[in-house]
Amino acid sequence: MPEPSPLPMSDAVVLAPLSGYTDLPFRTACRRHGCLYAFTPLLDAASLVHENPRNKQILPRGEHEPWLGVQLLGDSPEILRAACELLPRDTYDIVDLNLGCPVRKVTRRGAGAALGADRERACRCVEALVEVCECPVTAKIRVQAMDTPETTVELARGLEAAGIAALVVHGRVMERFYSGPVACSVIREARRALRIPVLANGGAFCRESASVLRTASGCAGIMVARGAIGNPWLFSELGDPAFTPPGHEELCAEVELHVEGMVRLYGEDVAMRNARKIILAYLTGRGYRRCRRRAVTSISTWAEFEDLMVTLRQEGPSAHYDAAKSPKRDVLEVC
Ligand SMILES: Cc1cc2nc3c(=O)[nH]c(=O)nc-3n(C[C@H](O)[C@H](O)[C@H](O)COP(=O)(O)O)c2cc1C
Repeated sequence: MPEPSPLPMSDAVVLAPLSGYTDLPFRTACRRHGCLYAFTPLLDAASLVHENPRNKQILPRGEHEPWLGVQLLGDSPEILRAACELLPRDTYDIVDLNLGCPVRKVTRRGAGAALGADRERACRCVEALVEVCECPVTAKIRVQAMDTPETTVELARGLEAAGIAALVVHGRVMERFYSGPVACSVIREARRALRIPVLANGGAFCRESASVLRTASGCAGIMVARGAIGNPWLFSELGDPAFTPPGHEELCAEVELHVEGMVRLYGEDVAMRNARKIILAYLTGRGYRRCRRRAVTSISTWAEFEDLMVTLRQEGPSAHYDAAKSPKRDVLEVC
């Protein structure tokens, strides 16, 4: 694997922060397939300050992780500063501020996308992080409007002036959550307006949609999120012109490695509960029988998981399944 640069630049494909997903086993699966740059899921700055034990499971960096960003969620410069001081200094290459989370519980208290809508406070939060962090500070925002770039550009310029070293722009407004077209023309204007690297995010699920996102936004660097869930091969697909989709045995082996990693990190009980959605994501869209996928929803022990894998290995996907078309190959709609 090549050496990462301090910032994910030029034509990088970065694994996005994804709550409930991008833990160490998930990232390790992506690393196996060429992922160089990855983020932790968001970490609530207040919960870090109040020592929520759950953070211990978000925080660990794998021994062989070449580059890792930690993403903080918060709306108070003081708390963000305090959280940053608590982060183990040699564990992260970058600290990112979340300005895009649309979840009501988060926006109600002025964090996530609500902070993105409050430029002045967002800039104060960035300034606080820049002051205390020894590594570069970045931000992840959403476009502020789908059809006009002004507000997004204003926010982006403010954050640049406050000291961020790179910016990720998700091309959907808060109200759209994760669906609908991606406002690439707005991302393009933000990229033109800034001197720092700008990465585009939204809807890159395969080589074709990643290429549309790059071309339409003018950003060489992109961030991928849902496209990597159940599909860590996305990184080799985007980086290797000779890529071929995984066969049945390779898929089964990858699921096992991923779930094994979860058991090591969380212990069997918690891991197997969390693993259901992960296993399902690997199987969905790849021609496996619906009854097998249904069986995943009740798995609660490693032994049950192993039984399922024996059956899956024997049975394989349906004879009509076309591996080249799997999974999630929707055309990306941009505006
Ligand atoms: C389940 C889920 C969890 C997410 N968690 C985070 C998060 O912790 N931090 C963040 O900045 N964005 C988060 N996002 C947003 C993604 O990083 C990304 O911006 C969004 O999914 C759009 O990219 P995509 O179309 O490639 O999926 C989350 C999205 C989903 C669907």
